[in-house]
Amino acid sequence: GIKIVTIGGGSSYTPELVEGFIKRYHELPVRELWLVDIEAGKEKLEIVGSLAKRMIEKAGLPIDVHLTLDRRAALKDADYVTTQFRVGLLDARAKDERIPLSHGVLGQETNGPGGLFKGLRTIPVILDIVKDMKELCPDAWLINFTNPAGMVTEAVLRYTDHKKIVGLCNVPIGIEMGVAKLLNVDHSRIRIDFAGLNHMVFGLDVYLDGVSVKDKVINLLSNPENSSFVKNIKGQGWEPEFIRALNVLTCPYHMYYYKKDEMLQKELKNFKDGTTRAEVVQKLEAELFELYKDPNLAIKPPQLEERGGAYYSDAAVRLISSIYNDKRDIQPVNTINNGAIASIPYKSAVEVSCVITKEGPKPIINGDLPVAVRGLVQQIKSFERVAAEAAVTGNYDTALLAMVINPLVPSDKVGKAILDEMLEAHKEYLPKF
Ligand code: NAD
Ligand code: G6P
Ligand code: MN
Repeated sequence: GIKIVTIGGGSSYTPELVEGFIKRYHELPVRELWLVDIEAGKEKLEIVGSLAKRMIEKAGLPIDVHLTLDRRAALKDADYVTTQFRVGLLDARAKDERIPLSHGVLGQETNGPGGLFKGLRTIPVILDIVKDMKELCPDAWLINFTNPAGMVTEAVLRYTDHKKIVGLCNVPIGIEMGVAKLLNVDHSRIRIDFAGLNHMVFGLDVYLDGVSVKDKVINLLSNPENSSFVKNIKGQGWEPEFIRALNVLTCPYHMYYYKKDEMLQKELKNFKDGTTRAEVVQKLEAELFELYKDPNLAIKPPQLEERGGAYYSDAAVRLISSIYNDKRDIQPVNTINNGAIASIPYKSAVEVSCVITKEGPKPIINGDLPVAVRGLVQQIKSFERVAAEAAVTGNYDTALLAMVINPLVPSDKVGKAILDEMLEAHKEYLPKF
């Protein structure tokens, strides 16, 4: 039987993942699911872990669920390791969002200074996990969902020799589902050629039953209701002439770059009102865990759909299943570029449509990105690389460099002020700078 280990098992997303394993049990016979957390997440782990057990029992499946704070015990002989942890929990996210905003700079979980600091906290932990895996389950696949997923995948590719890593995001599948809904067709009839980076991914073309419907879909993106495919970002709609000229499908995170000012103004308002996304999610999480405590609940409650990670389980479980079953179907994931995008270094992580095989994802060659977006994508990739280097070395100047080359940071001076304040605020979770 298959042994799955999920690190950050106390996440409110766990019922989503468990639902995915239940739905695909016929093709992916999981025997053991180990949910791993740390002392700070112990209570969450127990609540959500009990719900996971009830869900599996209700489905009548022979999957053993283990809850543990002992990561090494869990990793022994694992087949697939999935990660969904948040170093410092949502309090740290609130700081990632609020400190930059207090300096008039966008504060977001995976973009700008917030993304940098989430990376600085996460990368040392993920490298430790990989070290444990080398010893305890060297042949296991690491499916990383932990943000910033692109930077984290980059760090594992650059700084370890563990090749079996895939970075995963629900945005591409969310766009596919969203486009299917806009066109009012079943999602199985839609295919999108994805290329770019995590949270910086473009749809180079989109097909309905094999026929390009790109122009039509691009026009639909001018409608604010259609332009965001995730719950955590409110759509604003693109200027029709702009999106037509860009001539590729955007992802919701592009709004932070191509609508910098509008997004910043909105966030500054949230900052004043105490309603940044971390604060909204803290409330939502408290409500979710109240529901999870109900001993009669044995399904994923629909309220979880208010989180940004919708379809996460579909993305994760279909990926594991396609590796396990050597399905050779196409899925968008974060993996080593190997020339799929010409203007990105060979050894860097990219988010691209891949053929998923037993040996892992094989990126589909896209040639290159359109010239209008190429520069921004390269800049973000440089940011991710320098940030990963800072996380590994703990070098202050390197961290400052990452901060200042980020396109959302206006100057070296402002960048340094934010860096210093965030280094202090997060120091218990950071390497020594
Ligand atoms: P959360 O705050 O609930 O954290 C999840 C769990 O991680 C907590 O129970 C916490 O105790 C645990 N944890 C913290 N440090 C740990 C460590 N060192 N080892 C093991 N466990 C640890 O977070 P969440 O809101 O459920 O999100 C989980 C993660 O998934 C985040 O990193 C988030 O950014 C990411 N996420 C990714 C996507 C994507 O598209 N890739 C979508 C949604 C969420
Ligand atoms: C999106 C992204 C994730 C991100 C999440 C935030 O779906 O793909 O990478 O972490 O939403 O959702 P939240 O509900 O935590 O704000
Ligand atoms: Mn994501």
